[in-house]
Amino acid sequence: MTLNLKIWRQKNSKDKGSMEDYVIENVTPDASFLEMLDLLNEKLVAEGIDPVAFDHDCREGICGMCSLMINGQAHGPEAETTTCQLHMRKFKDGDTVVIEPFRAKAFPVLKDLMIDRTAFDDIIAAGGFVSVNTGNAQDANSILIPQSDAELSMDAAACIGCGACVASCKNASAMLFVSAKVSQLALLPQGQVESEQRVQNMVAKMDELGFGNCTNEAECEASCPKGIEISNIARMNRDFLSAAVKSKATPKK
Ligand code: SF4
Ligand code: FES
Repeated sequence: MTLNLKIWRQKNSKDKGSMEDYVIENVTPDASFLEMLDLLNEKLVAEGIDPVAFDHDCREGICGMCSLMINGQAHGPEAETTTCQLHMRKFKDGDTVVIEPFRAKAFPVLKDLMIDRTAFDDIIAAGGFVSVNTGNAQDANSILIPQSDAELSMDAAACIGCGACVASCKNASAMLFVSAKVSQLALLPQGQVESEQRVQNMVAKMDELGFGNCTNEAECEASCPKGIEISNIARMNRDFLSAAVKSKATPKK
């Protein structure tokens, strides 16, 4: 198939950037979206044109690097699918495809379609871990965990930190990402020890880094390639409120 591509080109983080038009021919419907961009880049290099810079790593839907807005949708038209797992059979011969980077104040564009998502790492560094040494793995049933809690924790842990939730939210809110990272730990006994400090630290870092607030649009949930549910945001809000009230009630030494 032949596609008309409109791609955001931006030399560096200071450059103003603009949309550029390209035509790509002989795209097989079985190619992934990134393979289609590889084909374009081979053509551009052969013509002496700077190839389009875009992020990718695993190409298996697990690393979260392949962050693209495709026709205005984070990761494109297929539900619960990363850009690398999107296939060209989702498009038709002659289609125009608009490709842009994820846009958010906290995710500056580095070049073309590549963005800097260090802000997510900074939020994790603010508390998204268990700091106690838990020693060797224990026998399976030494700490009893309800199956429903284990399932909810595993569902939250499926977040790959891609940033689609931020890109698709009109407020550039990172609440779905942060709530998934808070929930996956807070739902299990090992993570509960530090849960109050964790939620306060991670929310404070999220606000400091320039992400917006959640206004219940649910665009984040709709665009998440891993099906993370906004019920995690409600859980995080409850935990945050409870931690804030308790920390105010604790006498200062
Ligand atoms: S919550 Fe979903 S959309 Fe947001 S970073 Fe995690 S996997 Fe990506
Ligand atoms: S390249 Fe790893 S999730 Fe797409």
